[in-house]
Amino acid sequence: MRKPIVAGNWKMHGTLESARSLAAEVAAAAGSTTGVEVVVIPPFVHLHAVRNALGESAVQLGAQDVSPREEGAHTGEVSTRMLRDIGCRYVLCGHSERRQYQAESNELVAQKFMAARRAGLLPVLCVGESFEERERGETEQVLRAQLDPVLRLGGPATFEKALLAYEPRWAIGTGKTASPEQAQDVHRFLRSEVAAFSATIADLLPVLYGGSVKAANAAELFSQPDVDGGLIGGASLIATEFMGIVAAAA
Ligand code: G3P
Repeated sequence: MRKPIVAGNWKMHGTLESARSLAAEVAAAAGSTTGVEVVVIPPFVHLHAVRNALGESAVQLGAQDVSPREEGAHTGEVSTRMLRDIGCRYVLCGHSERRQYQAESNELVAQKFMAARRAGLLPVLCVGESFEERERGETEQVLRAQLDPVLRLGGPATFEKALLAYEPRWAIGTGKTASPEQAQDVHRFLRSEVAAFSATIADLLPVLYGGSVKAANAAELFSQPDVDGGLIGGASLIATEFMGIVAAAA
């Protein structure tokens, strides 16, 4: 049985004060939810304050990115050790906005993923196709190209203690959610790609869906057998909306 996970990716939003109060609201509300792993993923500079605001609650902390390098002269980078140190359990690798605007390649993303694994963080490998790629029938090919470098570096145990997030680019921040059937088809495909290496690991692997998830459409998406929760953007910035999504996963 896979435990559902709902993670809020706050992206580059908020102030120190708004991050603190959002974290405190989520922590207070999450106290009454059982059976769902709730994660908040604030910007780097707010991690410390958010961790303090979460206090003793069960809400977990994640980061939006990480350096593939351990330490040294890498101005502006944040290492896996720093993230561990500050209390992160999860880290996103290869979010589509980083692939698109920071030109992160599949290979670089794979290195980040492996660095996170080595450090004992739970990497969330984000994959997804553009609208044009889907229209051309290239979805599986694109996803395979995003998965393969990671599997090549990591070998059969790559996705042990890791997560996958399917975020179709055309659904991110657009209000256009993938239908539950579209999400299920892709999630099943992703799980089968991992199963080709290890059926046991594939079976335990949480595969999250991201892209315009709201409290109103979450239950239908999460009812699909291979959808194990969500990676939430915009809707995670409003505590009541986010907790509505968490409730849909319970
Ligand atoms: O990582 C979450 C994400 O990209 C989805 O964003 O705003 O469509 O929920 P949003």
